[in-house]
Order: sequence, then structure tokens, then C-alpha cells
Amino acid sequence: MMNYNKHLLGLSILSMCFPVLSEALPEGATKIPSTPEIPNRLSIEYFSPDQIFEFKKLDHYSEPKWLTDNYVKTGKLPPVEQRLPEAPMVMKTASMPDGVGVYGGVLRQVTGGRPQGWNWSAAHSQGWGGINYIVQQCLTRTGPMYQLKTDQLQVLPNLAQSWEWSKDGKTLTMHLLKGAKWSDGVPFTSEDVRFYWEDTVLEPRVPSFSSQNALGDGAKLTIIDEYTIRWSFNKPFQNQALYNMAFMTFCPGPAHVLKPLHPKYNNQATFEDFSNALPANEVPTVTMGPWVPVSYKEDQIILLRRNPYYWKVDEKGNQLPYMDEVRYKLSTWESRTLETMSGSADFSNMENPPIYIETLRKLAASNSPTRAMFGPRNLAFQIQMNMNPTLSVRDDREAAIRQLNRKLKFRKAISHAIDRKSLGQALVKGPFTAEYAGGLHPETAFYRQSDVVYYPYNPRLSKQYLAELGLVDSDGNGVVNFPDDINHGDDLEIVFNSGNGTADSVFNDNLVSMMADIGIKLIPRLLDSVQGDSARDAGDFDWRLNRSDKELIVPMQRMEWLAPIAQSGPVWHRGTANNPQVLQPFEQKMVTLAHEIFAERDNKKQADLIGELNHEMTKNVYHVGLVAYPGALLVNKRIRNVPNAPITAYQWAEDAVMRERFWVPKQQQLKGLKPHTVPEYE
Ligand code: GLA
Repeated sequence: MMNYNKHLLGLSILSMCFPVLSEALPEGATKIPSTPEIPNRLSIEYFSPDQIFEFKKLDHYSEPKWLTDNYVKTGKLPPVEQRLPEAPMVMKTASMPDGVGVYGGVLRQVTGGRPQGWNWSAAHSQGWGGINYIVQQCLTRTGPMYQLKTDQLQVLPNLAQSWEWSKDGKTLTMHLLKGAKWSDGVPFTSEDVRFYWEDTVLEPRVPSFSSQNALGDGAKLTIIDEYTIRWSFNKPFQNQALYNMAFMTFCPGPAHVLKPLHPKYNNQATFEDFSNALPANEVPTVTMGPWVPVSYKEDQIILLRRNPYYWKVDEKGNQLPYMDEVRYKLSTWESRTLETMSGSADFSNMENPPIYIETLRKLAASNSPTRAMFGPRNLAFQIQMNMNPTLSVRDDREAAIRQLNRKLKFRKAISHAIDRKSLGQALVKGPFTAEYAGGLHPETAFYRQSDVVYYPYNPRLSKQYLAELGLVDSDGNGVVNFPDDINHGDDLEIVFNSGNGTADSVFNDNLVSMMADIGIKLIPRLLDSVQGDSARDAGDFDWRLNRSDKELIVPMQRMEWLAPIAQSGPVWHRGTANNPQVLQPFEQKMVTLAHEIFAERDNKKQADLIGELNHEMTKNVYHVGLVAYPGALLVNKRIRNVPNAPITAYQWAEDAVMRERFWVPKQQQLKGLKPHTVPEYE
């Protein structure tokens, strides 16, 4: 693997080392400008995997005293050594910034999302902002990989503690953590894995975060015994499978809770019941995570308490987590940052450019309660244009928009209509934002400037392209019309789904006027997080504003979000059984490239293939890039064991920093809302 981590943090300019693609640039296209320099203060400490954790039986285990007194001595819970696996995961002191901690205290988090429910096996989100990362525990883990030494880069174990590929690379045998238990004390076994795969992922009537081919070509699962599972694939070394067994595509739900709610095991239940099972107010939920949601108040709070069956310890045998309680205030994304800045919350990915200047000014004060870690430009916004010709199409207008979205000339016209410099400055003044052509985020590992084809601001060319597509203002009202035989020759009106935060409104205002300049009427449709997620998942949009995610940093980990290797993605070209994807030739090429990327074991060749994929993606304006920008991780200074981390890399910071190791010195601990309790299951 290439020197990934350094590049991930933007510490070196990879593009200079690679040959420029010799192909001539398409009409109107230019090279993407280099991103302007910003001071990068983030330095990362690197470790080998076994300095982070290993699975080991220790001689002695301990837990908070109140837990022994209130629960073990009263017979409500078995002693801690009986609640832990045979060989728990031991988090190593070597990689802890402040070492072994003390018990107690509260971690105050905020999210702008809202929980759909606890049935993540049926694609429920728990409200983002890092709460999903707490309750969903997966076979592997990728977040902390940003801290691995380059030559020891590997997907990390989690509920699967080890694995091996067969000689021919077509089967992968995985060993589950023996003796680990769900938060209600029921053992976690291969039955949880089988149920998740067979009865949710492969069951077309249950919505899922995962899909068969995304895991690996022709993936099949065999259960060997209670703690051993075996995968087989059509093609050798489907390494992306290990990435896809991490958050959020292979985090099994509790089979003992879910089976009685599933029609295959209960003839009274329907698939709809199953998909809606475990609503947000049904707490405590059953999880393998460090904290368990124990109370929920709509639009106010989710309260989580320590999981007495959590399967990790420190080197002294203290069962983790150190912190007893996590609070999730249900608010807005902006308030997450503002509250963390002012000290009334503890943790925020600062990612809303409109509030950067104010935040940075406050953070600079010597008495600021908050530490900020500024990262590279690994965030970006795009317009996603729905390319499925029929999915969620209700009328002639929607059908006509889908056809337009599928035309390269139209997508180029839109790209040329966007003045990204002004857009960036409207978002936040100063050197933060950079013009972004779409595709991989700049300042990340696999990004090479020379791969990118950029269709910059050129409204004259936009108008010319629209006219060539037959889109002219035939009724003189300033908005171009469809040709007479399409959508009744009506005005070209496009509904634009976005969120309801401040960044969204900056994009909406500016894009409405940039589109108006070329005769397109853009109609913003503001949605909250749950509405936005369901419209996205249903393919119910003309265009949508998107703040991109990890697949544009480490492509092989969610390839179906970039190239249509499965019906489940990318978001803007999803398919279903009734409304399948209709792939265009360049998309087919991307699929072929994706499979080559998976199968390629030489790191240099793999990086070249990823470069080619990025070239296809930007040349064909697969989505329309807007601006790229950096984020900063903000954490309250009283929290210990917080490593330096970018806000997103392999996963969001909430996974990367390993909150189960966070601790707070006794005198700075806050009092819990439900002190000295663990979740009770009646
Ligand atoms: C949202 C937030 C991110 C991060 C993730 C975690 O997407 O915007 O900053 O907290 O949730 O899933």
C-alpha cells in the first residue's frame, strides 16, 4: 500500500510524481487549479496494529465500584470476568495519548440528525453524529486505520477477531470473538451473522445498508460453527469485503431480538412490521457497543449508559468504557459546533464553513475550553443528478429531467454554469474553499491533480450546450423550455433537495441565481435529516445537494457509492427490482475499473486504476463538484486520550478516535443524569 496516511493528511503533493494523462482535454475543459495552501497543524502519531489493541486473556479484571456494589453483589449481574469474552480485546497503553484512565463522567455530544430507530439491520439510522458508531458494532473496523503505520496498513478486527484467505483467494474464513455477549447478556454468535446476511441483506423485502455484490463478487456465506464463518467469492481476493464488513455495512443486529419480529420466524409478522420494528422510543436497545441507549425524548435527547457486557478492557484489566454516560442532544449541526466551542458540549466535527470564522476567533482565546485540530481539504459538496430513468418518477416533468440528467452535454452545461470561486467565498471568506471538479477529494491519498477533468465557469458555453439540446426560451419568460414534444414544452424547472442548515441555504441561494443566469429554474426543497435520507434512499429527487463522504477518500471501501457495481449505488443512480439501473457506456467502464481495483494486489497499480476511475468520473461529470474545504475536530480540553485526528478519513472521527478509551480526571467529571445505573431489561 502506498504512503497512504501522510497523503491522507495532505502533507505531500502526490500529483507531481505521476505522468499527466496524454489524452487531449474535452472542449471547454481545463486542468483543475491546485488547492491553495493553508497552514496544516495536524500531526498524527503512527502505530502498528498490535500497539492499538490485541485479543488476550488477562489474569484479573475490574469495573467501576458502583457496578460491583449495585449490580454484582445484589445478584443482578454476573461478575465482570463472566461477562467478558474468553480473550477480550485489550486496548494498549502504548497508543493511548494519556494512558490508562479512571472511571466516571459524561461525554456530551450533539447531533443534527434524528434516530429512525434501532433496527439498523433494516437500514435505520440512529441519528448520525457518531451515535450510529456506538450502537452498531461490525465484524471489522476501519476508523482507527488512519493511525496505522503505512507498511502495516490493514483493516482492523472487531467482532471478527481474525481471518485468513484460502490459497486460491476465493474463500475467507473468519473467527468471531468467542464468548462476547450482547448488552442483555445473550451470547453473540455466528447465528447473528447468518441472520443479518440471509434474512436482512439478501432479503429483498427488507431495506439494507449492504448488498451481496458490494461485499464481493458473488459473495456467499457458510456457517462453520458457533464462532467460525466462511465466505466464498467468484473472484479471488475480494479485499473490499473486509472494508465492507466495517461500519455500516456489516454490523449485525441482535438475532434473538429480531427473529421474533421477522416474518420468516413469526407468521404473524409482515416485512413492513419488521422494517419498522424497534422504533426510537423502544429503549433500552440491545447492542454490542460501549454504551446503550436507555432513554429517548423526541427532539431533545438520547441518553446512553455503559454496557456492562462490553468486550474490551485496558491493559490493567479495567473493563471499558471509562466514561459512564453519553448524552446526545438532538439539535442542529451548527449548534454541535457552537456548543462545543463554548464548552457546553464536548465533541464536534467542524464542517459548516459559514461558522468557521467565528469559531476560529473564539477558539484562539487562551481560555477557550476547546481544542481544535485542523485537517486537510477532505470535505466537498456536490450536486447529484438522478440518472435512474424510472425510479420514483411520478410525472412527465420528472421523467424528462431524468433523461436530461443522463446526457453528458447537459451535465457539462451545469458544471460550466457554476462560479465556484464566488460560491466558495459565499460559503466562507478567506482561503478555506477550493474549486472542486467532483470525484476524489483533493488532499487525500489517491487524488492526483492530473487525473481530473474540470469544466470551469463558462456560462456562454452552458447556454450554447442547452440550445444544442433543444432547450431554448421559446416563450420569452427567461426560463428555457423543453422541446415541444417533451414535457409539453414546459419551462425547465428542477427541484433541488437539500438539508436545512446554513451551508445548505448558501448553496441554494447561489445555485438558484447561477442556474437562473442560464435559464434554468431551480426550486430548492428543504428537508430535515430523516426526510432527506428517505428521499435519497427512495431515489426521489431530480437533483440533490450532497456533502460527500468516505468513498471519495478511500474508494475501495464503499465502491458501490462511486461506481454502479450493485443496484444499491451510487446514490444518484440506484436501482430496484422494478426500476433497475440503466447503465451508460462510461458507467460500464467504471464498473470494470472497480473490479480491477478490487482484484489488484500491487499498490502502485491499484493507485493508478483509482486514478483512472477518477478521470472517468470527472470527465463524464458523474456528479457536479462544487467546492472542497477542510474541517477541524473540536474536543473539550477536559477529555483525555483524544488522539490527533482528521474529522474524516476511513471513517468519521467519532469512530477513528476510539471514544471507549476517553476519560476525564475525577475533579472534572460531570454528574450523570442516571448515575450508577446500567440498562435494565425486564
Ligand atoms: C454526520 C456528520 C458528521 C459525522 C457523521 C457520523 O454525517 O455530519 O460530521 O458526525 O454524521 O456518522
